[in-house]
Amino acid sequence: MLELKEVSFTIRKDGEEVPLVDCVSLRVPKGHFMAIVGPSGCGKTTLLKTIAGLNPESGGALFWDTRNLSEDGDFSPSEIGYVPQFSIAYDPLTVDESVEAATRLRVRSPNTEALDSRIDRVLEETGLTAISDRQVKVLSGGQKRRLGLAMELVSDPKILLCDEVTSGLDPRSEREIVRLLHDLSRKDGRIVLSVTHSLAHLELYDSILVLHEGCLAFHGPPEQLTHYFSVHDTEEVYPRLATQPSKRWQASWQKHSASYQKMLDHNRSRLIASGGLQIPAPDAPPLPVTPPAPESPQNPAAAKSAEPPAPPARTPSSDAPEPLHLPGFFSQFATLLSRRWRIFFRDRGQVFLQLAILLCFPILVTLFSDKASGNIRRFSDTRQTDVFVAIQEQQSVRADQAKVGSAVSGIIMFQVVLLSLMGSNNSAREIAGERPIYEKEKFGGLRPSAYLASKVVFLSCLVMMQSLWMAFFVNFFGTFRGDFIEHAGFLLLINASMTFICLAISALMRTAEQASLLSIYLVGFQLPLSGAVLALPEKIEAFTRPFISAYWAWSGSVEALQTQVHDAVKSVIDTGLSAQNACIYALAAHIGVALIAAWAGACRPQWD
Ligand SMILES: Nc1ncnc2c1ncn2[C@@H]1O[C@H](COP(=O)(O)OP(=O)(O)OP(=O)(O)O)[C@@H](O)[C@H]1O
Ligand SMILES: [Mg+2]
Repeated sequence: MLELKEVSFTIRKDGEEVPLVDCVSLRVPKGHFMAIVGPSGCGKTTLLKTIAGLNPESGGALFWDTRNLSEDGDFSPSEIGYVPQFSIAYDPLTVDESVEAATRLRVRSPNTEALDSRIDRVLEETGLTAISDRQVKVLSGGQKRRLGLAMELVSDPKILLCDEVTSGLDPRSEREIVRLLHDLSRKDGRIVLSVTHSLAHLELYDSILVLHEGCLAFHGPPEQLTHYFSVHDTEEVYPRLATQPSKRWQASWQKHSASYQKMLDHNRSRLIASGGLQIPAPDAPPLPVTPPAPESPQNPAAAKSAEPPAPPARTPSSDAPEPLHLPGFFSQFATLLSRRWRIFFRDRGQVFLQLAILLCFPILVTLFSDKASGNIRRFSDTRQTDVFVAIQEQQSVRADQAKVGSAVSGIIMFQVVLLSLMGSNNSAREIAGERPIYEKEKFGGLRPSAYLASKVVFLSCLVMMQSLWMAFFVNFFGTFRGDFIEHAGFLLLINASMTFICLAISALMRTAEQASLLSIYLVGFQLPLSGAVLALPEKIEAFTRPFISAYWAWSGSVEALQTQVHDAVKSVIDTGLSAQNACIYALAAHIGVALIAAWAGACRPQWD
């Protein structure tokens, strides 16, 4: 039994408390199918989220059987299923792969057979078996809703919350989905609460809850709806609601609620007596210690009483459901990582873009690197006895130094900036672009640590490929004039640094567009603020430099140059260079801070 006792959810607006859900009280027994209806903006989604524990209630209490959800913690991930309005599947995956990933993330299966049979059962239940190999992007609206349901049913939730799963469907598909939800509520005593705009097919529900401006205006049998609101047709209910303030509807409902509750109880007793509803034993006393069921059949007299008859006690029989456990960290990590690679390779546009960047950027660098391989004459090599000639030679050495020094510095900075750009392209949308799906999966028991670890490993592979390829390719056409390994290390660090900083931005921003924009600005400012091209006033430079990854990677690479080339660079760059160790520590610090920020962003709930 789910019970809400004067549950409220308020927000603060202009310094005042505004109730979005206002003192809602109701009881929903097991195996009940309830519609939540009301005009747009009346608080249906808010109520659903409050029940799910996504909105912490500001007042009142929620009970699940004997458990006080407000005090003893929310539903466990396997107890509840929440099907939001938006699609929760990845377009490039097939139906089967989506359901499989959902199962692997939510349920610990003892072996592959158990996993497969669970997936097959859920596909069967939701009528998706015939189209299980179809990609999500080609599914119709109704099929997508079924998939959303299937991905929740993998954990056999005891309560299923659906938000507008029929909106936008044609009448036939809508009826099919409502019928499916109805059938799901008839199994294992599952409660199904469905928010809907539509006032069609109300006869399939056990009860209808009408909300008006956050207040409960009615909760009774569908056949009583028109009678209660004194209208001829259900379509007239919403206009009727608008005729008086919500507080009056609330007060009026409080007067009449008891008699409608009796009707609901009576309907339920009749349903159970007719065998239309089978309710399993109360929740989860540990299976082995439950006493055997009494032999006597159900007492027919009990069916007439207001309360439903006591269900038969659960026996420790072999077909009793095993309690479900969440998969461990490594299992969730492996599922996410293999899914990420699959999505990556299915998205041809993304693969093409990555390959194009991988090939073109180093070619671009090579085109500009000609001058960097020029010779620098040594002053000692050209020493003359004639002072005039000596001055001339000295000037030509300086000219060599200036030409080669600026070319080498420029090429290093060019590589650094291109790798920064690759870093932002790698991760700016990585989390923000799939936030609703991630929030949904987190609600279903996904560990943020497993999620972030899968992102870090996936992105690290891209970073390694891009940085090392850039370093080797450019080195092949114009050998790095210094310690190549150190240079390659700094290229790796700058790419990793920007990738993880942009991942943090992606985890903290609300939308993928915001994250992309901020990441691009960040890369754009790296070059001017690095000091490698333009000299900033010293005071400003001292403040900005610690944060500019490009400076540290550039400076570290310049320090890896052989002495003569290093001196040539120093002769043209009017800015300080830092010791290599300082550069490594600075970039490592950037990566560390970025990962902490990404972790904080991944843990923070960000539902719409
Ligand atoms: N976190 C929030 N902060 C401020 N206002 C909110 C918040 N959540 C919801 N609201 C407001 O509360 C009201 C109820 O929103 P809700 O989404 O619950 O409505 P709804 O009945 O589901 O509407 P619809 O049928 O259009 O989906 C709306 O006016 C909405 O703008
Ligand atoms: Mg809504």
